[in-house]
Amino acid sequence: MLFSNLPKDNPFQIFQDYYVRAEDHGDKFAEAGCISSVDKDNQPHSRFVNFKYFFEDNLIFFSNYKSHKADNFLANDKVCINFWWPNIEVQVRIEGIISKCEEKFSDKHFQDRKPSKNVAAIVSQQSQKIESYDLLKQKYEAMKEKVENGEYTDSRPKNWGGYQIKVHFFEFWEANDDRLNYRECYEKNDESWSKFFLQS
Ligand SMILES: Cc1cc2nc3c(=O)[nH]c(=O)nc-3n(C[C@H](O)[C@H](O)[C@H](O)COP(=O)(O)O)c2cc1C
Repeated sequence: MLFSNLPKDNPFQIFQDYYVRAEDHGDKFAEAGCISSVDKDNQPHSRFVNFKYFFEDNLIFFSNYKSHKADNFLANDKVCINFWWPNIEVQVRIEGIISKCEEKFSDKHFQDRKPSKNVAAIVSQQSQKIESYDLLKQKYEAMKEKVENGEYTDSRPKNWGGYQIKVHFFEFWEANDDRLNYRECYEKNDESWSKFFLQS
């Protein structure tokens, strides 16, 4: 995850410090966070995504704009995210409001990726049913060849791009051997952040 222009408020710096510590301690998937959303029938859904940037007060990941989660975000823009970094025994809970990133931001991220990484983004109708995994692989291989031959030179597909979560809550949780876990929280009300602790 790349950090840029983080607000000077404490919780953002604290998040960055924990993240760097998790990576330094060998947490290989530190950028993976579980994001939960709620659909139009109030059914919650969770899945992991890779958060690629923390830009200003926004956590950012990339996905398909026609996926199940995309439908959820349209129905309800309130989301929460959970990071678990086992090597430092830290959990971070985050809450915020989700929206699509600016098109030029998604364009740049798409252009900067290795073309082979973009093949799945181009070809897969994420979350839609398909008869078999083999069929998906065939679609993938055919597109991969086109990308590698230079036959496919289109820019970012319009149904793929970034999502940003404007964060208004953090809980930093540290494990304690006797279960007296440490819980430090930050909540944004109007424009200011308040800090408090929760019992474990
Ligand atoms: C560690 C990990 C990272 C993932 N990263 C992403 C990601 O960045 N973007 C994405 O769309 N899906 C990612 N996925 C797949 C999602 O978990 C999920 O299967 C997919 O987005 C479809 O979810 P949906 O049907 O709820 O829309 C990742 C899965 C794992 C396990």
